[in-house]
Amino acid sequence: MNYEPLYSDTAKRMRSSEIRELLELSQRPDVISFAGGLPNPDSFPIDDVRRILNKVLDEQGSRALQYGPTEGIKEFREVIAEFVSKDGIDASTENVLITSGSQQALDIISKIFLDKGDVIIVGLPTYLGGINSFLAYQASLEGVPVDENGMNVDMLVEKIEELRKKGKRIKMIYTIPTFQNPAGVEMSEERRKRLVEISEEYEIPVLEDDPYGKLRFEGEPLKPIKAFDDNGNTIYMATFSKILSPGIRLAYVVASKELIRKMVIAKQSMDLCTSTLTQLLGYHYIKEGYVDKQLPKIIDMYRKKRDLMLAAMEKYFPRECKWTKPRGGMFIWVECPEEVSTVEMFDEAVKNKVAYIQGRAFYVNGGGQNTMRLNFTNAQDEQIEEGIRRLGEVIRKRVK
Ligand SMILES: Cc1ncc(COP(=O)(O)O)c(C=O)c1O
Repeated sequence: MNYEPLYSDTAKRMRSSEIRELLELSQRPDVISFAGGLPNPDSFPIDDVRRILNKVLDEQGSRALQYGPTEGIKEFREVIAEFVSKDGIDASTENVLITSGSQQALDIISKIFLDKGDVIIVGLPTYLGGINSFLAYQASLEGVPVDENGMNVDMLVEKIEELRKKGKRIKMIYTIPTFQNPAGVEMSEERRKRLVEISEEYEIPVLEDDPYGKLRFEGEPLKPIKAFDDNGNTIYMATFSKILSPGIRLAYVVASKELIRKMVIAKQSMDLCTSTLTQLLGYHYIKEGYVDKQLPKIIDMYRKKRDLMLAAMEKYFPRECKWTKPRGGMFIWVECPEEVSTVEMFDEAVKNKVAYIQGRAFYVNGGGQNTMRLNFTNAQDEQIEEGIRRLGEVIRKRVK
């Protein structure tokens, strides 16, 4: 059977993420990879998970293996509302939707908001999984530069004005304000507050994606954008992928009740509900203080890896390169001089047995040819210096 003529327009538009293909190359056992965005498996609390799952199966096995409500089980939504309130977000149970990973939340939000040609404003650079979700619903993506203080809000206003003049319908501003993927930077409190004002002034919702906020190595915690928003214009999402494990596929959205109801309808046709078993796991993980026990261990592990990588970069990267020094999260962003194309350099890097992600994948309007994203959480400590030494050697050859 030739399936080609049968595919939907949506399927025809879909393209395999270039990252996915690059990742395959970088997974060769002899390659030191800074490419994937994977947590370190040593950070998974396997014994705690076993203990919690045994308890859940002993005490409420039938329920754990049954379908649950689409919005998520009640006690877990309650616990999430309490959990986010510690960060200054005012939420009750009805404001919470449990999803199967925050990638599903991105898909649900795209599904309920986007028609062909609708504009989403994103950071330059921004998370590729977000870009792909929006594109699947035929959105038109517009970028606003991100610097060391996050998305440039003055340029955001200019962009909104410019797009409105052209008669464009702007549906959302998508941002990852804390330890951004891919750049590792934090949006300042001033910009967070200004973003809330802009959202109100122009009546454009903000989609705040916060997978890394809890992975802070130093500095005072910054409140999420949603904590500054009294009008329900911000849709907040976070995930268990980086504070427990990505394999359990558990995340949550906090938004107005009305929006949650709409999202529930969209989710129904995707998977009926998120796994009841993993929701009960997530519930106990938070309720019984496991998250407070595990987070400091993850943070210590990742801080050490970040320090190893930054120290190696100081030693081996040419002076002409610039890079971010993230206070948390999982990524360092590198800007090489203009003449260094990280796209052209990639094969040579893999030959030299080191891999990264080409920065251009995170730019919606082209550009970023001389940039790259380095993940510091997944490699073994002893591989980090050697990997950076190999990468430095490849870059150095191309710097004029
Ligand atoms: C910014 C951002 N959003 C969403 C996701 C998806 O996370 P999840 O595992 O919860 O689907 C990731 C994963 O790396 C991410 O970096």
